[in-house]
Amino acid sequence: MKTLSTTSLQVRDNQLWILDQQALPQQKNWLPAADVAELVAHIHALRVRGAPLIGLSASLLLALLAEQGFTRTALADALEVLRAARPTAVNLMNNLDRMRLALAQENYVAALRMEALNLIDEDKKLCDAIADAGAALVTPGSRLLTHCNTGGLATAGVGTALGVISRAFSQQKVTNVWVDETRPLLQGGRLTAWELGELGIPYQLICDSMAASLMAQKQVDAVWVGADRIAANGDVANKIGTYSLAVLAHYHQIPFYVAAPHTTLDPHCPNGAAIPIEQRAASEVTGVAGSFGSVQWAPEQARVHNPAFDVTPAALISGWVLDTGVITPEQVNAGIFLPR
Ligand code: MRU
Repeated sequence: MKTLSTTSLQVRDNQLWILDQQALPQQKNWLPAADVAELVAHIHALRVRGAPLIGLSASLLLALLAEQGFTRTALADALEVLRAARPTAVNLMNNLDRMRLALAQENYVAALRMEALNLIDEDKKLCDAIADAGAALVTPGSRLLTHCNTGGLATAGVGTALGVISRAFSQQKVTNVWVDETRPLLQGGRLTAWELGELGIPYQLICDSMAASLMAQKQVDAVWVGADRIAANGDVANKIGTYSLAVLAHYHQIPFYVAAPHTTLDPHCPNGAAIPIEQRAASEVTGVAGSFGSVQWAPEQARVHNPAFDVTPAALISGWVLDTGVITPEQVNAGIFLPR
């Protein structure tokens, strides 16, 4: 496969490399993802993360393994292992379902390569379309609040919610971005803060618990988040803490937008209750770990609840900003949702 490079994925020397999102921003380390076990370990550890990116990385690895001479049967097995690497983001399943169709073709090596490259190219275009559609909703002078990381690190392109924010900033509509640190894994504090700094967009980092009083003080004009899965009724699974923001935004009458590619839609999932929510290790809540080291502050025996995502009901969402355009609450109420 030819050399390929996005913000957080590379193909060089016929091998997949990932930018370690656990080491950022202190270190910019590129790590090999040479085989299925290595990529799955990176995905579990969130060294590769973000709904679009995990699907793209898995697709690229499959294409590379095919070029290395893996049999169709071995590739089919690899595909199923990768497909199960994380349960909530449906982009992984959607991307790999397309790769499965390529695998069924006679010249599956070429078909897998072409499909993986198509997925990368498409994701860039999807991000641009989302950014354009979303930026049109941002009013001049906006102070926007975002949660988790939805930027170039999490996609092959400019990102989803963060892509909207950066496009609106380039249109001189954004004066400040409130960045939720996003406990427990600090995707906001580590990754979004880093990306906004690189882009030259003014931001202020806040603890998740500070959003409420900022809203009460009328310092937030809109909330923009991404999604890991959008159910057929418009309910959205996204990083834990998203639901609290939606409730707060509703109470304070602040628009709450979800930005995502159509590959995040799951027409087979009737509502949020049917979305599988990943449960993660207790150590993420009893302390914190990163390239800076690790610290544990909770008692050794503390029992922990650590869901990685929550579900925001459709009723709290002001607009679903997709690459195909903006879906309004009125359209969702009328059952016009899935634009495929
Ligand atoms: O656990 P993560 O860091 O993979 O969770 C990421 C999110 O929740 C993002 O908001 C979502 O995947 C969209 S990324 C464009």
